Amino acid sequence: MQALSINNLSKSYKELKAVDNVSFEIEKGDFFGFLGPNGAGKTTTINCIMGLANFSQGEIKVFGKNIKEEYREARKLIGLAPQDYNFDPYLNIEDVLVYQAGYYGIKKKDAMPKVKELLEQFKLDGKKEVDFRKLSGGMKRRLALARALVNSPKLLILDEPTAGVDVELRLELHKYLEKINKEGTTILLTSHYIEEVEKLCNKVAIIHQGKLIANDHKAKLMEKLDSGHTEILLNKNIRPKKIEHVEFHNKRVIVWNHGRHQLKNVFGYIQSQKAIIEDVKTVKDSLQDIFLRLTKK
Ligand SMILES: Nc1ncnc2c1ncn2[C@@H]1O[C@H](COP(=O)(O)OP(=O)(O)OP(=O)(O)O)[C@@H](O)[C@H]1O
Ligand SMILES: [Mg+2]
Repeated sequence: MQALSINNLSKSYKELKAVDNVSFEIEKGDFFGFLGPNGAGKTTTINCIMGLANFSQGEIKVFGKNIKEEYREARKLIGLAPQDYNFDPYLNIEDVLVYQAGYYGIKKKDAMPKVKELLEQFKLDGKKEVDFRKLSGGMKRRLALARALVNSPKLLILDEPTAGVDVELRLELHKYLEKINKEGTTILLTSHYIEEVEKLCNKVAIIHQGKLIANDHKAKLMEKLDSGHTEILLNKNIRPKKIEHVEFHNKRVIVWNHGRHQLKNVFGYIQSQKAIIEDVKTVKDSLQDIFLRLTKK
């Protein structure tokens, strides 16, 4: 069962194509990373899923429910922690959660156990009578996450949930997200912390200038873009030689994976220069390297 399927989605703001013919699917149980530089179209895509942006072309389904034709059913299945939040500044934070539950048709007395649990989980129970304006930045982020979970969504959408959150809390959030993902919540995560995506997600898509430029299992993506390298350290400088996919930097020789077949050649050249090899390291690209390379083009 697809938790989310997006087909040929386009969304323009006047001349600007913020989302340009994007298609991808998220399977039930996935922890899906959605990456892209500033202005790439991530939030716009999310706004289309949520029915917050009106799109002219394409189709979006959440667990098989069309978000235009079956809006209420689809919306019930989703929880969103938005990039920019929109809390009522005069509500205390317990009421923020109770109101959100009410939006899904959950009565206060039925919502309270979950509200209590979430306030505790996100260490907000000491602040429940305080209004939103009196929270710190990190507390607001936690509240946004708690609010996204109040209806026990099957698809949780997190638009930069850990921006401005301290390291300790970030690690705690990671643990919590991993836990609910294991328990069956499908998660779509956007983040500028690529280590976070690398750590948590099983699949990754990259959007750039409105277009999807990668979408694969994380491991496959890293394998497909096999662009690690081997670094050879020498005891002395040698003269550079022209060999494809090989770079000479004084004592350091870099052999890109595309040039692996040249290794024998390279070792031969090093020997002919009477240099001694002191160290050989193979370096695998991180998701960050892949991301930067793909979005630089
Ligand atoms: N309401 C709007 N009216 C006009 N243009 C918009 C609107 N919302 C977004 N855009 C434009 O659409 C493009 C995509 O923006 P979007 O917010 O989707 O980017 P993003 O990938 O979420 O970036 P970030 O990482 O900075 O959050 C940008 O060029 C942005 O200026
Ligand atoms: Mg955004």
